[in-house]
Amino acid sequence: MSEEASRPLVFVTRPIAEQALAELAGFARVDLWEDEMPPPRDVILGRIAGADAILSLLTDGIDAAVIAAAPRLRVISNLAVGVDNIDLDAATASGVAVGHTPGVLTETTADLAFALLMAAARRIVEADSYTRQGRWRTWGPRVMLGRDVFGAALGIIGWGAIGRAMARRAAGFAMRVLYAARADKPHQARIGATGQEIAGASAVALSELLGESDFVSLHVPLTPETRGMFGAREFRAMKPGAILINTARGEVIDQRALYEALAAGHLGGAALDVTSPEPIAPDDPLLKLPNVIVTPHIGSASQATRLRMAQIAVGNIRDALAGRLPAYCANPAVRLKTKIA
Ligand code: NAP
Ligand code: GLV
Repeated sequence: MSEEASRPLVFVTRPIAEQALAELAGFARVDLWEDEMPPPRDVILGRIAGADAILSLLTDGIDAAVIAAAPRLRVISNLAVGVDNIDLDAATASGVAVGHTPGVLTETTADLAFALLMAAARRIVEADSYTRQGRWRTWGPRVMLGRDVFGAALGIIGWGAIGRAMARRAAGFAMRVLYAARADKPHQARIGATGQEIAGASAVALSELLGESDFVSLHVPLTPETRGMFGAREFRAMKPGAILINTARGEVIDQRALYEALAAGHLGGAALDVTSPEPIAPDDPLLKLPNVIVTPHIGSASQATRLRMAQIAVGNIRDALAGRLPAYCANPAVRLKTKIA
Protein backbone atom coordinates (compact mmCIF):
# COMPACT_ATOMS: atom_id res chain seq x y z
CA MET A 1 0.00 0.00 0.00
CA SER A 2 1.33 3.49 -0.87
CA GLU A 3 2.03 5.92 1.94
CA GLU A 4 -0.87 8.10 0.77
CA ALA A 5 -3.35 5.19 0.71
CA SER A 6 -2.37 4.22 4.25
CA ARG A 7 -3.41 7.62 5.63
CA PRO A 8 -6.86 7.66 7.30
CA LEU A 9 -9.79 8.70 5.12
CA VAL A 10 -12.11 11.43 6.38
CA PHE A 11 -15.45 12.18 4.73
CA VAL A 12 -16.25 15.89 5.12
CA THR A 13 -19.89 16.54 4.33
CA ARG A 14 -19.60 20.23 3.25
CA PRO A 15 -16.89 22.79 2.58
CA ILE A 16 -15.77 24.23 5.95
CA ALA A 17 -13.15 26.90 6.71
CA GLU A 18 -10.20 26.47 4.29
CA GLN A 19 -7.66 26.75 7.09
CA ALA A 20 -9.25 23.85 8.98
CA LEU A 21 -9.46 21.71 5.81
CA ALA A 22 -5.73 22.33 5.29
CA GLU A 23 -5.04 21.22 8.87
CA LEU A 24 -7.08 18.07 8.25
CA ALA A 25 -5.23 17.36 5.00
CA GLY A 26 -2.01 17.46 7.02
CA PHE A 27 -2.81 14.09 8.63
CA ALA A 28 -5.60 12.52 6.56
CA ARG A 29 -6.99 11.99 3.08
CA VAL A 30 -9.97 14.30 2.68
CA ASP A 31 -13.05 13.19 0.77
CA LEU A 32 -14.98 16.47 0.51
CA TRP A 33 -18.63 16.80 -0.53
CA GLU A 34 -18.35 20.16 -2.29
CA ASP A 35 -22.01 20.93 -2.85
CA GLU A 36 -23.80 23.77 -1.06
CA MET A 37 -26.61 21.33 -0.16
CA PRO A 38 -26.08 18.39 2.23
CA PRO A 39 -25.16 15.00 0.77
CA PRO A 40 -28.25 12.81 0.31
CA ARG A 41 -28.52 9.76 2.55
CA ASP A 42 -27.39 7.32 -0.17
CA VAL A 43 -24.25 9.43 -0.70
CA ILE A 44 -23.51 9.41 3.05
CA LEU A 45 -24.02 5.63 3.16
CA GLY A 46 -21.73 5.13 0.15
CA ARG A 47 -18.96 7.51 1.19
CA ILE A 48 -18.87 6.56 4.89
CA ALA A 49 -18.40 2.86 4.01
CA GLY A 50 -14.63 3.20 3.61
CA ALA A 51 -14.08 6.18 5.94
CA ASP A 52 -12.15 6.23 9.21
CA ALA A 53 -13.88 9.46 10.26
CA ILE A 54 -16.71 11.73 9.22
CA LEU A 55 -16.82 15.47 9.78
CA SER A 56 -20.58 15.96 9.82
CA LEU A 57 -22.94 18.90 10.06
CA LEU A 58 -26.20 19.14 11.98
CA THR A 59 -28.05 18.61 8.69
CA ASP A 60 -26.58 15.08 8.33
CA GLY A 61 -28.60 12.29 9.93
CA ILE A 62 -26.04 9.88 11.36
CA ASP A 63 -28.27 7.11 12.63
CA ALA A 64 -27.64 3.47 13.55
CA ALA A 65 -27.89 2.30 9.91
CA VAL A 66 -25.28 4.84 8.78
CA ILE A 67 -22.94 3.83 11.61
CA ALA A 68 -23.46 0.14 10.79
CA ALA A 69 -22.51 0.86 7.16
CA ALA A 70 -19.09 2.14 8.28
CA PRO A 71 -16.93 -0.71 9.61
CA ARG A 72 -13.75 1.42 9.74
CA LEU A 73 -15.38 4.46 11.35
CA ARG A 74 -13.70 5.63 14.56
CA VAL A 75 -15.09 9.12 15.02
CA ILE A 76 -18.08 11.23 14.07
CA SER A 77 -17.01 14.83 14.48
CA ASN A 78 -20.00 17.18 14.39
CA LEU A 79 -19.50 20.84 13.51
CA ALA A 80 -22.01 21.90 16.19
CA VAL A 81 -22.52 21.69 19.93
CA GLY A 82 -25.85 19.91 19.44
CA VAL A 83 -25.59 16.22 18.60
CA ASP A 84 -29.29 15.45 18.12
CA ASN A 85 -28.59 14.47 14.49
CA ILE A 86 -26.45 11.55 15.70
CA ASP A 87 -27.52 8.29 17.34
CA LEU A 88 -25.19 8.54 20.33
CA ASP A 89 -26.13 5.12 21.71
CA ALA A 90 -25.41 3.40 18.39
CA ALA A 91 -22.07 5.22 18.12
CA THR A 92 -21.08 4.26 21.67
CA ALA A 93 -22.14 0.64 21.13
CA SER A 94 -19.97 0.53 17.98
CA GLY A 95 -16.91 2.04 19.69
CA VAL A 96 -17.22 5.26 17.67
CA ALA A 97 -16.40 8.53 19.43
CA VAL A 98 -18.67 11.52 18.84
CA GLY A 99 -16.96 14.90 18.84
CA HIS A 100 -18.72 18.29 19.01
CA THR A 101 -17.88 21.97 19.44
CA PRO A 102 -19.19 23.33 22.77
CA GLY A 103 -18.00 26.56 24.37
CA VAL A 104 -16.44 28.24 21.37
CA LEU A 105 -19.86 29.21 19.96
CA THR A 106 -21.46 30.21 23.26
CA GLU A 107 -21.01 33.98 23.07
CA THR A 108 -21.75 34.20 19.33
CA THR A 109 -25.01 32.29 19.76
CA ALA A 110 -26.01 34.33 22.81
CA ASP A 111 -25.33 37.51 20.79
CA LEU A 112 -27.83 36.28 18.18
CA ALA A 113 -30.40 35.28 20.80
CA PHE A 114 -30.16 38.70 22.42
CA ALA A 115 -30.29 40.41 19.01
CA LEU A 116 -33.51 38.49 18.28
CA LEU A 117 -34.92 39.54 21.64
CA MET A 118 -34.16 43.20 20.89
CA ALA A 119 -35.44 42.94 17.32
CA ALA A 120 -38.74 41.36 18.40
CA ALA A 121 -39.22 43.81 21.29
CA ARG A 122 -38.61 46.91 19.18
CA ARG A 123 -40.11 45.52 15.93
CA ILE A 124 -36.89 46.20 14.03
CA VAL A 125 -37.54 43.88 11.07
CA GLU A 126 -41.10 45.16 10.70
CA ALA A 127 -39.93 48.79 10.96
CA ASP A 128 -37.26 48.25 8.30
CA SER A 129 -39.90 46.82 5.89
CA TYR A 130 -42.18 49.77 6.70
CA THR A 131 -39.42 52.17 5.65
CA ARG A 132 -38.53 50.23 2.49
CA GLN A 133 -42.21 50.12 1.48
CA GLY A 134 -42.33 53.95 1.56
CA ARG A 135 -44.79 53.97 4.48
CA TRP A 136 -42.65 56.31 6.64
CA ARG A 137 -44.46 59.59 6.06
CA THR A 138 -43.76 61.40 9.34
CA TRP A 139 -42.70 60.88 12.95
CA GLY A 140 -45.78 59.41 14.60
CA PRO A 141 -46.61 59.20 18.30
CA ARG A 142 -48.30 55.82 17.77
CA VAL A 143 -46.04 54.41 15.06
CA MET A 144 -44.21 51.09 15.60
CA LEU A 145 -44.63 51.02 19.36
CA GLY A 146 -42.77 48.12 20.87
CA ARG A 147 -41.86 46.72 24.27
CA ASP A 148 -39.19 47.87 26.70
CA VAL A 149 -36.30 45.50 27.20
CA PHE A 150 -34.73 47.53 30.00
CA GLY A 151 -36.15 46.36 33.33
CA ALA A 152 -38.28 43.55 31.83
CA ALA A 153 -38.25 39.94 33.07
CA LEU A 154 -36.39 37.31 31.02
CA GLY A 155 -37.09 33.62 31.59
CA ILE A 156 -34.35 31.23 30.48
CA ILE A 157 -35.08 27.58 29.80
CA GLY A 158 -31.80 25.61 29.71
CA TRP A 159 -29.36 27.04 32.22
CA GLY A 160 -26.27 25.90 30.37
CA ALA A 161 -23.46 27.75 28.60
CA ILE A 162 -25.64 29.74 26.16
CA GLY A 163 -28.50 30.28 28.61
CA ARG A 164 -26.08 31.80 31.13
CA ALA A 165 -24.37 33.90 28.44
CA MET A 166 -27.84 35.24 27.63
CA ALA A 167 -28.33 36.05 31.33
CA ARG A 168 -25.07 38.04 31.38
CA ARG A 169 -26.30 40.13 28.45
CA ALA A 170 -29.66 40.66 30.16
CA ALA A 171 -27.89 41.93 33.30
CA GLY A 172 -26.55 44.86 31.25
CA PHE A 173 -30.15 45.83 30.48
CA ALA A 174 -31.20 45.61 34.15
CA MET A 175 -33.49 42.72 33.26
CA ARG A 176 -34.80 40.44 35.98
CA VAL A 177 -33.53 36.96 35.06
CA LEU A 178 -35.47 33.83 35.99
CA TYR A 179 -34.49 30.31 35.06
CA ALA A 180 -36.06 26.92 35.51
CA ALA A 181 -33.61 24.30 36.73
CA ARG A 182 -34.16 20.61 36.29
CA ALA A 183 -35.50 19.18 39.53
CA ASP A 184 -32.83 16.47 39.58
CA LYS A 185 -29.89 18.88 39.20
CA PRO A 186 -30.86 21.98 41.17
CA HIS A 187 -27.42 22.86 42.55
CA GLN A 188 -25.44 22.46 39.35
CA ALA A 189 -28.02 24.55 37.56
CA ARG A 190 -27.40 27.47 39.89
CA ILE A 191 -23.65 27.61 39.18
CA GLY A 192 -22.39 29.83 36.35
CA ALA A 193 -20.05 28.85 33.50
CA THR A 194 -17.02 29.90 35.51
CA GLY A 195 -18.28 28.18 38.64
CA GLN A 196 -19.76 31.38 40.08
CA GLU A 197 -23.33 32.42 40.67
CA ILE A 198 -24.72 34.84 38.10
CA ALA A 199 -25.75 37.91 40.06
CA GLY A 200 -29.46 38.56 40.20
CA ALA A 201 -30.62 35.36 38.46
CA SER A 202 -33.28 33.40 40.35
CA ALA A 203 -34.15 29.73 40.04
CA VAL A 204 -37.92 29.33 39.95
CA ALA A 205 -40.47 26.67 39.02
CA LEU A 206 -41.37 26.54 35.33
CA SER A 207 -44.94 27.73 36.06
CA GLU A 208 -43.62 30.83 37.85
CA LEU A 209 -41.15 31.54 35.05
CA LEU A 210 -43.86 31.32 32.40
CA GLY A 211 -46.29 33.49 34.35
CA GLU A 212 -43.79 36.25 35.12
CA SER A 213 -41.50 36.54 32.11
CA ASP A 214 -41.93 39.22 29.47
CA PHE A 215 -39.46 37.27 27.30
CA VAL A 216 -38.81 33.52 27.36
CA SER A 217 -35.63 32.26 25.69
CA LEU A 218 -35.02 28.56 24.97
CA HIS A 219 -31.52 27.08 25.36
CA VAL A 220 -32.03 23.35 25.96
CA PRO A 221 -30.54 20.63 23.76
CA LEU A 222 -32.99 18.53 21.75
CA THR A 223 -33.49 15.28 23.67
CA PRO A 224 -36.45 12.91 24.12
CA GLU A 225 -37.27 14.96 27.24
CA THR A 226 -37.20 18.39 25.56
CA ARG A 227 -38.86 17.44 22.25
CA GLY A 228 -42.21 19.27 22.24
CA MET A 229 -41.56 20.69 25.72
CA PHE A 230 -43.33 23.93 24.68
CA GLY A 231 -46.88 23.33 23.48
CA ALA A 232 -50.36 24.87 23.87
CA ARG A 233 -50.30 24.47 27.66
CA GLU A 234 -46.96 26.27 28.08
CA PHE A 235 -47.93 29.05 25.67
CA ARG A 236 -51.22 29.53 27.55
CA ALA A 237 -49.25 29.75 30.81
CA MET A 238 -47.05 32.53 29.43
CA LYS A 239 -47.78 36.11 30.39
CA PRO A 240 -50.12 37.83 27.89
CA GLY A 241 -48.04 39.76 25.37
CA ALA A 242 -44.82 37.83 26.17
CA ILE A 243 -42.26 37.19 23.43
CA LEU A 244 -40.69 33.77 22.75
CA ILE A 245 -37.09 33.45 21.53
CA ASN A 246 -35.91 30.07 20.24
CA THR A 247 -32.27 29.51 19.32
CA ALA A 248 -32.25 25.90 20.62
CA ARG A 249 -33.93 23.49 18.19
CA GLY A 250 -37.22 23.82 16.31
CA GLU A 251 -38.53 20.51 17.67
CA VAL A 252 -38.46 21.84 21.24
CA ILE A 253 -41.67 23.70 20.46
CA ASP A 254 -44.97 22.73 18.88
CA GLN A 255 -44.94 25.25 16.02
CA ARG A 256 -48.66 24.90 15.29
CA ALA A 257 -49.47 25.72 18.92
CA LEU A 258 -47.10 28.68 18.75
CA TYR A 259 -48.92 29.96 15.67
CA GLU A 260 -52.26 29.65 17.45
CA ALA A 261 -51.02 31.48 20.55
CA LEU A 262 -49.72 34.30 18.35
CA ALA A 263 -52.75 34.44 16.04
CA ALA A 264 -55.06 34.59 19.07
CA GLY A 265 -53.10 37.60 20.30
CA HIS A 266 -52.06 35.88 23.53
CA LEU A 267 -48.33 36.06 22.76
CA GLY A 268 -46.80 39.35 21.66
CA GLY A 269 -44.27 37.89 19.23
CA ALA A 270 -41.71 35.22 18.49
CA ALA A 271 -38.18 35.23 17.14
CA LEU A 272 -36.92 31.88 15.88
CA ASP A 273 -33.46 30.96 14.64
CA VAL A 274 -34.51 27.31 14.46
CA THR A 275 -37.66 25.74 13.06
CA SER A 276 -39.16 22.34 12.35
CA PRO A 277 -38.56 21.47 9.61
CA GLU A 278 -35.52 23.42 8.45
CA PRO A 279 -35.86 25.31 6.26
CA ILE A 280 -39.36 26.41 7.29
CA ALA A 281 -41.80 26.09 4.38
CA PRO A 282 -42.21 29.46 2.62
CA ASP A 283 -46.01 29.13 3.02
CA ASP A 284 -45.84 28.34 6.75
CA PRO A 285 -48.54 30.43 8.48
CA LEU A 286 -45.94 31.75 10.97
CA LEU A 287 -44.30 33.67 8.13
CA LYS A 288 -47.56 35.54 7.52
CA LEU A 289 -47.47 37.09 11.00
CA PRO A 290 -45.75 40.49 11.23
CA ASN A 291 -44.70 39.87 14.84
CA VAL A 292 -42.64 36.79 13.95
CA ILE A 293 -38.97 36.91 12.98
CA VAL A 294 -37.30 33.83 11.48
CA THR A 295 -33.57 33.61 10.79
CA PRO A 296 -31.98 30.63 8.99
CA HIS A 297 -30.22 28.88 11.90
CA ILE A 298 -27.32 31.35 12.11
CA GLY A 299 -26.64 31.31 15.86
CA SER A 300 -22.94 30.49 15.56
CA ALA A 301 -22.47 32.14 12.17
CA SER A 302 -19.58 34.55 12.68
CA GLN A 303 -16.40 34.09 10.67
CA ALA A 304 -14.19 33.71 13.73
CA THR A 305 -16.49 31.25 15.47
CA ARG A 306 -17.06 29.07 12.42
CA LEU A 307 -13.27 28.85 11.90
CA ARG A 308 -12.75 27.93 15.55
CA MET A 309 -15.55 25.33 15.38
CA ALA A 310 -13.97 23.80 12.27
CA GLN A 311 -10.56 23.66 13.97
CA ILE A 312 -12.06 21.98 17.03
CA ALA A 313 -13.87 19.48 14.78
CA VAL A 314 -10.57 18.68 13.06
CA GLY A 315 -8.82 18.41 16.43
CA ASN A 316 -11.49 15.96 17.61
CA ILE A 317 -10.75 13.78 14.57
CA ARG A 318 -7.01 14.00 15.15
CA ASP A 319 -7.50 12.88 18.77
CA ALA A 320 -9.70 9.89 17.94
CA LEU A 321 -7.51 8.70 15.07
CA ALA A 322 -4.56 8.81 17.47
CA GLY A 323 -6.50 6.54 19.83
CA ARG A 324 -7.50 9.24 22.34
CA LEU A 325 -10.95 10.46 23.34
CA PRO A 326 -11.69 13.67 21.44
CA ALA A 327 -11.00 16.78 23.52
CA TYR A 328 -14.71 17.67 23.10
CA CYS A 329 -16.49 14.36 23.30
CA ALA A 330 -20.27 13.91 23.48
CA ASN A 331 -20.07 10.20 24.45
CA PRO A 332 -17.10 10.07 26.87
CA ALA A 333 -18.08 6.58 28.09
CA VAL A 334 -17.23 5.12 24.66
CA ARG A 335 -14.58 2.39 24.47
CA LEU A 336 -12.77 3.38 21.29
CA LYS A 337 -12.61 0.84 18.51
CA THR A 338 -9.09 -0.04 17.43
CA LYS A 339 -7.87 0.77 13.94
CA ILE A 340 -8.73 -1.66 11.15
CA ALA A 341 -5.64 -2.20 9.02
P1 NAP B 1 -25.25 23.21 27.39
O1 NAP B 1 -24.17 24.04 27.99
O2 NAP B 1 -25.15 21.74 27.49
O3 NAP B 1 -26.62 23.70 28.04
C1 NAP B 1 -27.82 23.03 27.89
C2 NAP B 1 -28.56 23.17 29.21
O4 NAP B 1 -29.87 22.65 29.06
C3 NAP B 1 -27.88 22.39 30.35
O5 NAP B 1 -27.79 23.22 31.48
C4 NAP B 1 -28.88 21.27 30.61
O6 NAP B 1 -28.95 20.92 31.97
C5 NAP B 1 -30.18 21.93 30.24
N1 NAP B 1 -31.24 20.96 30.02
C6 NAP B 1 -31.17 19.78 29.34
N2 NAP B 1 -32.38 19.18 29.37
C7 NAP B 1 -33.19 19.98 30.09
C8 NAP B 1 -34.54 19.88 30.48
N3 NAP B 1 -35.27 18.85 30.13
N4 NAP B 1 -35.07 20.88 31.23
C9 NAP B 1 -34.32 21.94 31.60
N5 NAP B 1 -33.03 22.08 31.26
C10 NAP B 1 -32.47 21.11 30.52
O7 NAP B 1 -25.42 23.55 25.85
P2 NAP B 1 -25.27 24.96 25.10
O8 NAP B 1 -23.92 25.09 24.54
O9 NAP B 1 -25.79 26.03 25.99
O10 NAP B 1 -26.26 24.71 23.86
C11 NAP B 1 -27.64 24.47 24.08
C12 NAP B 1 -28.31 24.12 22.78
O11 NAP B 1 -28.40 25.27 21.95
C13 NAP B 1 -27.56 23.11 21.89
O12 NAP B 1 -27.78 21.78 22.30
C14 NAP B 1 -28.13 23.38 20.52
O13 NAP B 1 -29.28 22.60 20.30
C15 NAP B 1 -28.52 24.85 20.59
N6 NAP B 1 -27.63 25.69 19.78
C16 NAP B 1 -28.16 26.36 18.73
C17 NAP B 1 -27.36 27.20 17.98
C18 NAP B 1 -27.94 27.95 16.82
O14 NAP B 1 -27.23 28.16 15.84
N7 NAP B 1 -29.16 28.42 16.90
C19 NAP B 1 -25.99 27.34 18.27
C20 NAP B 1 -25.49 26.64 19.35
C21 NAP B 1 -26.32 25.81 20.11
P3 NAP B 1 -27.96 19.82 32.61
O15 NAP B 1 -26.64 20.51 32.74
O16 NAP B 1 -28.62 19.56 33.89
O17 NAP B 1 -27.92 18.66 31.66
C1 GLV C 1 -25.96 24.73 16.28
O1 GLV C 1 -27.15 24.69 16.20
C2 GLV C 1 -25.20 23.94 17.18
O2 GLV C 1 -25.76 23.03 17.82
O3 GLV C 1 -23.98 24.17 17.23
